[in-house]
Amino acid sequence: MYTQSFNVQDAASLKSVPQTPSHEDPEFQARFDRKIDADSKIEPQDWMPEAYRKTLVRQISQHAHSEIVGMLPEGNWISRAPSLKRKAILIAKVQDEGGHGLYLYSAAETLGTSRDQMLEGLHSGKAKYSSIFNYPTLNWADVGVVGWLVDGAAIMNQIPLCRCSYGPYARAMIRVCKEESFHQRQGYEALLVMMQGTAEQKAMVQDAVNRFWWKCLAMFGPPDSDSPHSAQGMRWGIKRISNDDLRQKFVDATVPQAKVLGVTLPDPELKWNDERQHYDYGSIDWDEFWATVNGNGPCNKERLATRVKAHNDGQWVRDAALAYARKQQIAARKEAA
Ligand SMILES: [Fe+2]
Ligand SMILES: [Fe+2]
Repeated sequence: MYTQSFNVQDAASLKSVPQTPSHEDPEFQARFDRKIDADSKIEPQDWMPEAYRKTLVRQISQHAHSEIVGMLPEGNWISRAPSLKRKAILIAKVQDEGGHGLYLYSAAETLGTSRDQMLEGLHSGKAKYSSIFNYPTLNWADVGVVGWLVDGAAIMNQIPLCRCSYGPYARAMIRVCKEESFHQRQGYEALLVMMQGTAEQKAMVQDAVNRFWWKCLAMFGPPDSDSPHSAQGMRWGIKRISNDDLRQKFVDATVPQAKVLGVTLPDPELKWNDERQHYDYGSIDWDEFWATVNGNGPCNKERLATRVKAHNDGQWVRDAALAYARKQQIAARKEAA
């Protein structure tokens, strides 16, 4: 299983990416570059190039959006969980995802963007979130597979982010990764139980794996050859391992787990390569990935509509919190007078 101790080495080429020419103040830029080269953290009060700030706002807000949209496919199953134990676990997990969204919005706010601006981007369809959440969760085994594979892929992506050069993001990721580790284990354990059950239960697990496997591989993003922002992100110490390397690590870690579980991963080309000391795997359907990213997946519209409705339905909570804060302020002022 993956845990905090599942250490992933930085890519060897991390610092070898050439600097792109900067239009910023050379002295400030040089100080920033030295910090990055020394692997020190950049903090909110530190000077940073505008492009670094923008990249972080985009990445952290997309990550926050993915956490809160990710609550929806599994949230559908809370009222239909097969036992009190599974329901309690699922409620805790979905609540954790909401918490992850909140840490991440807070981290992005330290870069000078407001939560309202970020939510407006999400609700208007301008901002992206992880495409995996635009697929439906059709049976109970999907909840287990989301934990095992989707949270498993998320951990693989997120452990290197605990060492990201931007301090607030790196620190948020440490707690997030600990909780993701619980998510992954609970999913895998739920599937182990189902695989000891009836033929129908085993078939449900296999069906869920068949539908999610390729989509999880696509979660790591386009191939390195087709990922224009990756090199700059690596130079800045934001991204520390390439998409293809992370994808390979995920495949290598997951194949033995699938064997223990007793499911077949739906890829006839999946086999151990002795020379590379890695599993080879077949090709990912990037056309489908991009169609979903661009709004045409099976649940894009439904997810966005549900999120917007939840936000609007919660207006009274925000109003009440603001009214309470105002009253507290007035009371504090009166006391001080
Ligand atoms: Fe999460
Ligand atoms: Fe999670």
